[in-house]
Amino acid sequence: MENAELYVSSNALQKRDALLVLTEFLPQMGWQEEGETILDVGCGSGDVTHNLLMPLLPRVEQVMGVDVSNDMVNFASKTFLHNSLSFRQLDIERSVQPRVVHPDGFTKVFSFYCLHWVRDQRQCLTNIFNLLQPGGETLLVFLANNPLFDMYQNMSEKTQWNQYMQDVSKFIPVYQHKANPAQIMSDLAEDIGFNVISCDAPYFEFTFQNANILRNAIKAVNPFLKRIPSDQQNEFLRESLIELAKLKTKMNDGKSVARYNLMIAHLQRPE
Ligand SMILES: C[S@@+](CC[C@H](N)C(=O)[O-])C[C@H]1O[C@@H](n2cnc3c(N)ncnc32)[C@H](O)[C@@H]1O
Repeated sequence: MENAELYVSSNALQKRDALLVLTEFLPQMGWQEEGETILDVGCGSGDVTHNLLMPLLPRVEQVMGVDVSNDMVNFASKTFLHNSLSFRQLDIERSVQPRVVHPDGFTKVFSFYCLHWVRDQRQCLTNIFNLLQPGGETLLVFLANNPLFDMYQNMSEKTQWNQYMQDVSKFIPVYQHKANPAQIMSDLAEDIGFNVISCDAPYFEFTFQNANILRNAIKAVNPFLKRIPSDQQNEFLRESLIELAKLKTKMNDGKSVARYNLMIAHLQRPE
């Protein structure tokens, strides 16, 4: 994901979900009078960090957004200037030296719509644990499953696109075909040392009002598009929409509906 401009205009679903989850969970978190340091992992274009997360936080001293993509970090840094907010490049799946990221660690770590990109969930959760101060809390929100990823699989089996999608399995979330994703995540978090305050994967729906909105939303997050010659990209997107419709996402009135489970994990590093 590198096209920040497209993402920022096509992420209505992600913003809707971040707002719903924040509204429910922020009041359940413990807030200090001062000294909160907040990390947003996989901040992307930075609009969720700046426009949704920051205004809803009861108290803020410092917020840092991190993302694996330099393009995203550059866009976020240029677009959202604020003296309490900074952005930097960081891959949450690699081993991370927490004290290099922030000398005292963070009191809260948030992550929205990022961890379904991560294969090594153990390393990622271990990094988040180490980035937190003792007693700190994390709220992790990401796709447990979505028909989008079955569409990727189906597209990769087509002769024309196979050569660009040989590593498709890397882009299918580890929980996509699991019967009880929340239990697996909860067990892993406990094994790493977290107190699991709650971990669920409730069912969500989101309606895309027309094909163009859906097309842009798919385009903004598609990891394969940049590999496809530019004169074939429109055809790739057209076929992607057809494959998605076969997965019962299309409604009769031209709208499309995404039906998915969203992992919502609220964890605490013990004191
Ligand atoms: C769909 S965007 C979500 C952006 C934002 N949090 C939101 O809710 O709109 C997912 C972001 O996760 C980032 N990402 C993927 N893998 C990552 C990793 N291993 N470490 C850090 N960021 C990662 C991508 O670069 C992308 O910007």
